[in-house]
Amino acid sequence: MPSEEGLARAADILRAGGLVAMPTETVYGLAGDARNNLAVARIFAAKARPRFNPLIAHVTGVEMAETLAVFDDRARAVAAAFWPGALTLVLPLRADAGLSPLVTARLDTVAIRCPAHAVAQALLKAFGGPLAAPSANPSGRVSPTRADHVRQGLAGRIEAVLDGGPCAVGIESTILGLDGAPVLLRPGGIPVEALEAMLGPIVTGGDAHKPNAPGQLASHYAPEAGVRLGVTGPMPGEVWVGFGPGCAGADLSLSPVGDLVEAAATLFQALREADDLAGPGGRIAFAPVPESGLGRAINDRLRRAAAPRPHQQP
Ligand code: TXA
Ligand code: MG
Repeated sequence: MPSEEGLARAADILRAGGLVAMPTETVYGLAGDARNNLAVARIFAAKARPRFNPLIAHVTGVEMAETLAVFDDRARAVAAAFWPGALTLVLPLRADAGLSPLVTARLDTVAIRCPAHAVAQALLKAFGGPLAAPSANPSGRVSPTRADHVRQGLAGRIEAVLDGGPCAVGIESTILGLDGAPVLLRPGGIPVEALEAMLGPIVTGGDAHKPNAPGQLASHYAPEAGVRLGVTGPMPGEVWVGFGPGCAGADLSLSPVGDLVEAAATLFQALREADDLAGPGGRIAFAPVPESGLGRAINDRLRRAAAPRPHQQP
């Protein structure tokens, strides 16, 4: 865990417009001052992220969030129930929010999250304002769940990495659109079933005319190796990643006992290890994972990891 002095230095870097990778309970984020155009532009450059893909503003709590977005009673109730935690709310942007227009990609909504990780909270408090923070990986690659993953992907492009150990949730936040009827924009660390218990049925997807969560880019979380899904018996040469007790011969396992919480926490590290084992031109085969609870988010990430890459498409 970073020291008081380390946190103070990180906050100074942010105030000067620099970039700091911070641990959150979902994945590591690449943080910059959300009100500083140059800092936000540097986030896009460091990740080689397309400018049309908006960022999440991270806040200390509801009070800071309400300076950025318009909260109705539903949004307040959901925030009270799930913050701090792995839930991002997309809400109408306040005219006086003061965010860099790059954060919202000039949309009239803003994505906001209050992270639960003690280091993220401490950094937000030391900085004293909203931090724009996408996952700290080069755009299109596997999200980082350990400080080493961040260094491997972004070394030389950012000022500092705060090491908060492995991320407990291991998969990005659930993104819930509340700019109208509730819409699931990205399955994630809070199972949609938990949100539906509070809000009633939630449709998936969103408005085709608005950019949505990383979702829209079919290929994402891409390892070097090719990926096959739903595999109960691997082909010769494939690195087999199991789930549950039925995969005794697997090279790796997301969770030997078949626990979805453990599988989410392991997923991105397993994808990296499998990629290393597979080697150049290799192939990875994943065992089936049930499509319920966190399984929905896990399968969403696996489908994107398996999708044809832009350079492989004709
Ligand atoms: O768990 C997380 O959410 C992590 C940690 C670091 O907090 N962050 C993260 O950020 O996953 P990122 O940039 O990798 O994914 C955020 C997604 C983007 O794909 C973007 O499309 C969507 O949020 N998003 C941001 N603002 C939006 C908006 N106004 N409307 C719809 N989607 C939005
Ligand atoms: Mg990301």
